[in-house]
Amino acid sequence: MALTIGIDVGGTKIAAGVVDSDGVIHRMVRRTTPAYDARGVEAVIAELVGELARTHPVEAVGIGAAGFVASDRGTVLFAPNLAWRNEPLGVVVEGACGLPTVVENDGNAAAWGETRFGAGRGGHTVVALTVGTGIGGGIVVDGVLHRGRFGVAAEFGHLNVEPHGRRCGCGNHGCWERYASGRALVREAQDLASVSPGYAADLLARAGGYANDITGHHVTAAARQGDAAALECFQVIGSWLGHGMADIAAFFDPDVLIIGGGVCEAGELLRAPAAAAFENRLTGRSHRPVAEVRLAELGANVGIVGAADLAREHVLGLAHDGSRA
Ligand code: BGC
Ligand code: NA
Ligand code: ZN
Repeated sequence: MALTIGIDVGGTKIAAGVVDSDGVIHRMVRRTTPAYDARGVEAVIAELVGELARTHPVEAVGIGAAGFVASDRGTVLFAPNLAWRNEPLGVVVEGACGLPTVVENDGNAAAWGETRFGAGRGGHTVVALTVGTGIGGGIVVDGVLHRGRFGVAAEFGHLNVEPHGRRCGCGNHGCWERYASGRALVREAQDLASVSPGYAADLLARAGGYANDITGHHVTAAARQGDAAALECFQVIGSWLGHGMADIAAFFDPDVLIIGGGVCEAGELLRAPAAAAFENRLTGRSHRPVAEVRLAELGANVGIVGAADLAREHVLGLAHDGSRA
């Protein structure tokens, strides 16, 4: 059974794993992401691949990257929240480690992983959202990942939801990810705590009294214990999320919508308000089948599993059962 490496390049850490054709991770290694340093990121990726290749007979590398990946599946054109600008990531990594390498957008890799091995199994038109620093998106229709003509389809994080709204890393204003991401959740909680410190006393206590030190984990932990202020933050973010999902349904008519990414640590705390807002905003809602809103199943490792499977398919030409195509 051929083994491939999947790599998830995030804003804070780079994680790499050896994955088999059932999506099972055999070994994992990780490092901190060098900040604003494209060369440094490539060096770390090459190092991690080298480490994994020493213990496992791997045949290809798939990288999930948080940015716009060109249709050559190697170049990162642009990364709104990272240092990449027209970066030949695939070629550089391939040169450094001697293994065929394919680069995929992180949202696409996650959508692929969930569709093959997780919450999207059995779905026909699957749209997956990766809710973290930004919002990643991926569309899988009838077992095919939809990349668009230039490779950058499903950039849902930059749907314009407020014409003159908050500034975004992409250069525009009012993008969805500035309202419905993990970062937006933290912003909401900090804002609430600074204007209503009494109401947000529990959140503040968790952050040592400083509104600016409130993290996503604090909000989740407080909401789990029923804190009204924290629950309100999830309500606000979930509602933004659901409204955007209703627009996505107007485009793609999915049967399955998946919510994943770091914020999903919160599970139902996020899914429930998002699903409610989605159903509320869905056009023609009482006259049509309504997509199921599911939580991602593969958790934090979905990027690794998805990228490794895409490497298997596209680089090695292997069918899902592991036989050579
Ligand atoms: C980027 C996407 C990425 C997403 C999640 C967005 O800001 O534009 O390419 O998939 O963040 O990382
Ligand atoms: Na995408
Ligand atoms: Zn944007």
